[in-house]
Amino acid sequence: MNPSAGSPWHRVGTIDGLKQRELQSLIIDGQPVALSYKDGRFGAISGNCPHAGGPLGDGQLAGENIRCPWHGWSFNRCNGTSGLGYPIAVPSFELKEEDGALWVRFDTATPAQVLQREPHPLTRPVRREPGPVRVFGISTTGMDAEAPRYSTSDDLLAVALDHARESLGCETKLIKLAELKFRHCEGYYSKAAPACTWPCSITQMDAEDGLEPVYEALVHWADVVLVATPIRWGAASSLYFKLAERMNCIQNQLTLNDTALIQNKVASFIITGGQDNVQGVAGQMLAFFSELGFTFPQFPFVAHSRGWTAEDMENNVRFVQTNEELRQGTRELATRAVATARALLDAADQPKHVARGGRKACGTAATAGEAESPLSLNPQLSTLNHPETSPD
Ligand code: FES
Repeated sequence: MNPSAGSPWHRVGTIDGLKQRELQSLIIDGQPVALSYKDGRFGAISGNCPHAGGPLGDGQLAGENIRCPWHGWSFNRCNGTSGLGYPIAVPSFELKEEDGALWVRFDTATPAQVLQREPHPLTRPVRREPGPVRVFGISTTGMDAEAPRYSTSDDLLAVALDHARESLGCETKLIKLAELKFRHCEGYYSKAAPACTWPCSITQMDAEDGLEPVYEALVHWADVVLVATPIRWGAASSLYFKLAERMNCIQNQLTLNDTALIQNKVASFIITGGQDNVQGVAGQMLAFFSELGFTFPQFPFVAHSRGWTAEDMENNVRFVQTNEELRQGTRELATRAVATARALLDAADQPKHVARGGRKACGTAATAGEAESPLSLNPQLSTLNHPETSPD
């Protein structure tokens, strides 16, 4: 039987066919539905996750709950309430079986329940507050914080920051990644482009994740970022790459929202290694930071390496500790970076909107010239932080 004109019931499909899948995404009369079938009972709830719009019907059934495929929020498959008892819910829909078919109606849907929360502080608009040039040093060397040893890259980073503070009149800040506990990027972008959020979904979901001060300094505070890394097997340190992966969320805002979170900021690098590949390491770092939107001074890195046959690391340490030329070169790098930052800050006609370069538009991006403020990115995330445990 087809619904008579004006009937609120919409035909979903044959019961026999729909029973074949435990969980599926359907669009019925324009409404996304997560339809489930388990233990002889159908359930239908809204297919849109209230967190960031993930497709609930493409998630997983865990008991009576549907787990969102993007970040793991969970909702009862029949009544739409939070799977972990939080005061949030998605609409659930009335179903009936008739003449071998399943029918759904939307006019009697249970109401959505949304948590009203303050926006995450990192989503505020990026505004450069008045004050001297700010230099942010990031140490990426792996180090036992309990028993630190001498690090050539950390030593030179300290030389640069001291010079910036004491001779150039800058404010400085140093974060050692080895002292932070933070999770690896879990590749939400690979699930769906809009699943990668600003700030990183992990930062929003996991209060124990320690990367927030790095995001705060990079996006909201610093004019100059100095990244120091040792060379490990011909590449930058593993902590550097762990950080770079977690900075995807900054870069992805270009793709997703045509928004450059990094503007008028300068990056420079300090690279040290017992063996060589300085230019390969510098090339990777330059490419990555250029993709984030950073500008570079002329000659944007200093480096030190003693080459393939120099395995006497104690001499390498002594060289860096005592070589005034290397230390002076590091101070000059800081001077060039700060001068470039000052020139950018003093520029009279700073663009309000930065074209995204080679980045392609994706999803619901704003059109060029109409960039949204970071606060308006992901409006659902502005009011909803993850109230549950992390996905894994
Ligand atoms: S979009 Fe569903 S958990 Fe993030």
